[in-house]
Amino acid sequence: MAEVGATGPRLFRPLTIRGVTLKNRLVISPMCQHEARDGLAQDFHLVHYGKFVLGGAALVLTENTAVLSYSLVGIDDLGIWSDDHIPGLRRIADFAHAHGGLFGIQLAHSGRKAFCEPLWKGGDALSLETLAESGVAWRRVGPSPIAAGRLWSVPEELSREEIHAITLAFADAARRADAARADVVELHFGHGYLAASFLSPLANRRSDEYGGSRENRMRFAIETARAVRAAWPATKPLFARLSCVDGAEDSWGLEDSVVLAGALRDEGVDVIDCSSGGLTEETRVGNLARGLGFQVPFAEEIRARTGVLTQAVGIILTPGQAEEIVAGGQADLVALGREALRTPYWPLEAARALGDPDDFGLWPIQHRDWLQRRQRVLNRLRAEGALQEKERTP
Ligand SMILES: Cc1cc2nc3c(=O)[nH]c(=O)nc-3n(C[C@H](O)[C@H](O)[C@H](O)COP(=O)(O)O)c2cc1C
Repeated sequence: MAEVGATGPRLFRPLTIRGVTLKNRLVISPMCQHEARDGLAQDFHLVHYGKFVLGGAALVLTENTAVLSYSLVGIDDLGIWSDDHIPGLRRIADFAHAHGGLFGIQLAHSGRKAFCEPLWKGGDALSLETLAESGVAWRRVGPSPIAAGRLWSVPEELSREEIHAITLAFADAARRADAARADVVELHFGHGYLAASFLSPLANRRSDEYGGSRENRMRFAIETARAVRAAWPATKPLFARLSCVDGAEDSWGLEDSVVLAGALRDEGVDVIDCSSGGLTEETRVGNLARGLGFQVPFAEEIRARTGVLTQAVGIILTPGQAEEIVAGGQADLVALGREALRTPYWPLEAARALGDPDDFGLWPIQHRDWLQRRQRVLNRLRAEGALQEKERTP
């Protein structure tokens, strides 16, 4: 990995990981939209991800994308369990490449938290009645028969053979991501989904080599990372998202994540995306105090102690805050979720905020000169006192 072009705000310095160069440090965080059909990307996804590409983020990550049909988080989330899913994803990758961006796919197996409602319907587990009516082939599986919470059904305990088959499904999904011309694959090992449920002693009570000691609980994640690394080109970066802490008593904690991050690094994972929580309804509702940049210390600790690149995420709102995270060595990349939903052109606005407010040089070529010219008019009007405060553009 190497840094080039070391001038200007740190947030806008490129970063090369393996054979891929991110033009800045801004990533759009995975966000499920519940707009796919049979896991297939729709026009919605092209527009949704495309707007972030035009908005100047270096890398746009998909929502959790299911490696097996029964492992969807929501019925209408993206999938990558068959070759039929490749063309829709490739269309988005091609768009990103044509407009100076990179496209990554978050590979996921929802485990015991398969099939929930969209948040606009409450976000709860789908009941067995609703699942039966929907006609989807659903399964909830986990390391042990322990439900994720009050509203979740008890998952089936996976056999060793099934665990191996899921690891292979992740590798097959990575091959399809490559065929879809994705630049990055992110393994979703957080938020209480399958890998996270193996990691946490609250969800994993197995007595075989996949349960018990921390080393055993990490085995599924490690084997999956190894299988994906072997299937995914050596020139392309591999990310893994962790819930760095479960946020509950006697559960997975930051010390555990430091150990896991080091082991994943040794398997060829390049970036640890530092999230938290989600294991159970209790942790979802929040034992974690959610303040500004509340997960940044996890990214900082893991980066300092393992030397792996980290991505910070969670209530990162302003360009100054993001710049401090990168410049202060707390993380190498900053992921934006809800703030990007609110302002898809956030990276472009941030570049102006941290640099020259009159410079639209990073904006899409189709817009750049128009905005530049208008800015000159606005500056003149401002100098003449002809712009009221409320009429000022940023
Ligand atoms: C609408 C929405 C959907 C999300 N879906 C996912 C997902 O599919 N995978 C994932 O890892 N995180 C998901 N998240 C979490 C975000 O990636 C991010 O970590 C979180 O929103 C905190 O960042 P923020 O404060 O910038 O929004 C989702 C968040 C939102 C708001």
